[in-house]
Amino acid sequence: MQTLHLTCNDVQKAADIIKSGGVVAIPTETVYGLAASAFDIDAISKIYKAKGRPSDNPLIVHICDLKELEKVISDFPIKAQELIDEFWPGPITMILPKNEKIPSIVTGGLDSVAVRFPSHILAQEIIRKSGVPLVAPSANLSGRPSPTKFTHVVEDLDGKIDAILDGGDCNFGLESTVISFIDETPILLRPGAITPSEIEAIIGDIIIDDSVYTEIKAEQKVISPGTKYKHYSPKTDVVIVKGSPKSYGEFLNSHIAENPLALCFDEDLPFLETPFLSYGSIEDENEQAKNLFDALRQADKQNVSIIYAHSPSSENMGIAVYNRLIRSAGFNIIEL
Ligand code: TXA
Ligand code: MG
Repeated sequence: MQTLHLTCNDVQKAADIIKSGGVVAIPTETVYGLAASAFDIDAISKIYKAKGRPSDNPLIVHICDLKELEKVISDFPIKAQELIDEFWPGPITMILPKNEKIPSIVTGGLDSVAVRFPSHILAQEIIRKSGVPLVAPSANLSGRPSPTKFTHVVEDLDGKIDAILDGGDCNFGLESTVISFIDETPILLRPGAITPSEIEAIIGDIIIDDSVYTEIKAEQKVISPGTKYKHYSPKTDVVIVKGSPKSYGEFLNSHIAENPLALCFDEDLPFLETPFLSYGSIEDENEQAKNLFDALRQADKQNVSIIYAHSPSSENMGIAVYNRLIRSAGFNIIEL
């Protein structure tokens, strides 16, 4: 299949392809998404196939107007409304009771549905012109780092989908925060740009799901099916190393025989004698979030045998960066 490469002037074209049952990769403020009509079962099957995504891993439904919520959900808890008032449009996804109109292929058979109102103007325009809510998982091959640049989508999906719309680099660089309102107390399932403390400032205490920090075993019951699958992995093995810039540098230098790459912070550079790739300043979680997935993709092209990643802090927004990195490392962590 030939994949059309569209520009920001082709929003109508992207919407026309979606309306006629196609799938189009579109930019959002978090990562690129692979979009199709949330009511078109055939188009949604194409998404699962192109990504190689397990069929029990549900998709997020994207809307561009709060009025569309009634087509998607069947109940609207007050705490969810409070968060929506504060953070939508924006990088936070709410899990809510599903409306019967949403096909079960969207939700992997669950009674709940994930909904998000993105703030990216092109994403909003494509949804509006398509005339329906759009499902859009991250536009990567299943298991690979999510795409934050047009070239990442081309790398993974060219020849497999109808079109890719180039909207430049994604502003945030990690996927949205996901919070579930299915139980009495809201549960954070995936950390993102909106932090737990920002959420708790609006709606009070929330639960942080175990899967945010720890590995879920195959037989464990999970709330969010996505958390049990291998994620964000480059082809080269990644190991996380916790320690100061000096001890991290010494560790890398003493492992030089392994042909390592240091996936590090700017502050580590004076201590390193090995090949390196910085994903930002140790102090700047926004910069780390924006660069991480691109750095993981670049690291794979460096002809190294192992990637030792310097661990980010798990405070505030750092929890989102840490959450993605421990998954890409398969929870393999060395504490110095
Ligand atoms: O920022 C984002 O959220 C991006 C952009 C494109 O909007 N999308 C994205 O979608 O990251 P995806 O499919 O890669 O991740 C969605 C996550 C998965 O972990 C999935 O298991 C979970 O949300 N999820 C979706 N529906 C759910 C539901 N009903 N209950 C629990 N978890 C759900
Ligand atoms: Mg994804």
